[in-house]
Amino acid sequence: MLVPALIAIHVVAIVVWIGGVVFVTTVVFPVIMTMEDSMEKVIFFQGTERRFANIAKGSVVVAGVTGVTLLQLEHRWSVLFSWAGIGPTAMLIVWTMFVFLLLFESAIFKILFGGSAQHDSKAIFRKLSAAHWVVMLISLMVIALGVYTNHIWLTK
Ligand code: HEM
Repeated sequence: MLVPALIAIHVVAIVVWIGGVVFVTTVVFPVIMTMEDSMEKVIFFQGTERRFANIAKGSVVVAGVTGVTLLQLEHRWSVLFSWAGIGPTAMLIVWTMFVFLLLFESAIFKILFGGSAQHDSKAIFRKLSAAHWVVMLISLMVIALGVYTNHIWLTK
């Protein structure tokens, strides 16, 4: 009863978090690219990203706690970084990548927008958009891998 409930909470947290990444990547960035004024772009982006970052941080914590608890309850720590544990391993790597991005979000923005936004915001947002596409596609692949490998494991 507990494991299925934890997987359900885990997946809902992933849907909110990665669903948000898909929205930012496929809706927010294309809208920003249509804006002419650089400052308007930066203000709109930082406003949107900062609001979503708070939602993402909550989902990342829930996904991490439920994921680690599932590994513990399923006694599956030993499969991490092995072929048999490719699902949870890929999840852990993606989770760690997002934790890093969310923890250093403002430092990353300072590097990106420090004093150069007026000069070439188009280039900066093109890079940011490309980075979001990469992170989004990796996350969607890990979701598919997680479901596929878990159902192989469950049907053994
Ligand atoms: C600390 C990070 C994480 C850990 C330790 C973790 C661990 C787990 C574990 C143990 C399960 C149960 C099924 C299994 O044993 O394979 C599971 C299910 C799942 N996880 Fe994670 N996970 C983490 C983060 C993520 C992330 C970042 C994603 C997606 C980007 C993800 C997607 C999924 C999905 C879709 C399932 C459901 C599989 C199914 O039953 O259909 N997890 N996770």
